[in-house]
Amino acid sequence: MISARAAFHPSPAARELTVDTVEVAEPGPGLVRVRLGASGVCGSDRHVLDGEWSMPSPTVLGHEGAGTVESMGEGVTDLEEGDHVIITWFQPCLRCSSCAEGRTWVCDNASSEGCRLPDGSTPLRKDDREAFPYLAVGSMAEYAVVPRHALVPISREVPFDVAALIGCSVVTGFGAVVNDAGVQAGRSALVIGAGGVGLSLIMSLVAAGAGKIIAADINPEALALAEEFGATHTVLSNGDLPDKVREITGHGVDYAFEAIGRPETIGIMPDCVRRGGKAVIVGLPPEDAPVSVDALALAEQGKTLIGSNYGSTVPPRDFPLLAQLYLSGRLPIDRLITRRFALEDVNEAFSLMRAGAAGRSVIVY
Ligand code: APR
Ligand code: ZN
Repeated sequence: MISARAAFHPSPAARELTVDTVEVAEPGPGLVRVRLGASGVCGSDRHVLDGEWSMPSPTVLGHEGAGTVESMGEGVTDLEEGDHVIITWFQPCLRCSSCAEGRTWVCDNASSEGCRLPDGSTPLRKDDREAFPYLAVGSMAEYAVVPRHALVPISREVPFDVAALIGCSVVTGFGAVVNDAGVQAGRSALVIGAGGVGLSLIMSLVAAGAGKIIAADINPEALALAEEFGATHTVLSNGDLPDKVREITGHGVDYAFEAIGRPETIGIMPDCVRRGGKAVIVGLPPEDAPVSVDALALAEQGKTLIGSNYGSTVPPRDFPLLAQLYLSGRLPIDRLITRRFALEDVNEAFSLMRAGAAGRSVIVY
């Protein structure tokens, strides 16, 4: 065991994180202990903090992290101490039929969803009780213990804060564009919500060669940032989004992406896409928040509404691609980072997120 500073959600009713010391286990067989270099502050962490998703507690938040290999358990032979790695929060079992088909992103038994290691244990303790790493990552701590297959080695040229973002918001946006929507060059797209995930969608649409890229948000500051990332049109949403989108495109967009997680904005997506168009749910709504859609129009007009979890990514395939796109200047991931915080100030990062501050906050160690 080693001690580490960590930011944890102490109880389901708490709306602030506590920053204190936790005990981190030695890495057992197949596990690796990572010394964090940076952790993003993601909308999904806020869902837990604000009680919108139930999680075991105490939970060390953070699931978008990168750092260096500190030590390895038995059987980990293909990494070295000091290697730079990105942690992935969707950790497939590698045994179910989906994994056997190579579709690891729809694994039936991802142990990480229960905030536990594959053997059911947790590597963290607080005051002699079990503590849980959020999504089996817990990157808002100085150290994390994760399975080897939760790590993707990455070039040392990529700074930790950029690498951390590749591990969640960036791959979520990129994967939704490239893996799920299969965006074709020249086609039009709408992105509803220009936060960390929405801006990742916009820069990925640019990289994929999309034509018109419309960003919709309620925050003018987020829209200004969206334009910097390559949005060709912006809409300050106020309920008449489908009309505004038709004004710009004539018949609706080829692709729409929702990157907020609100039932209302998910429900209007089919109305924003043209006949035969594709609407992709990227933002994650609170639990028990059903969405109402015009099913008749969806069927009659041959539209598609799909969900995208973590960009349907295969991390060892996609993370190095994203690092390369960053290094060659075609994916300006560093510009997503608008604020950097010390771990001790993590609550300030969440206050700014709740207040709708543009861009992404990152904790740097
Ligand atoms: N209409 C348009 N935009 C809105 C609305 C609305 N009704 N409500 C909020 N927004 C905008 C905010 O102004 C902000 O710019 O949506 C954006 C949300 O961004 P972030 O808070 O940075 O959230 P992010 O980290 O991008 O995550 C978005 O994706 O992965 C999921 O769980 C995550 O559900 C969350 C979503
Ligand atoms: Zn995330």
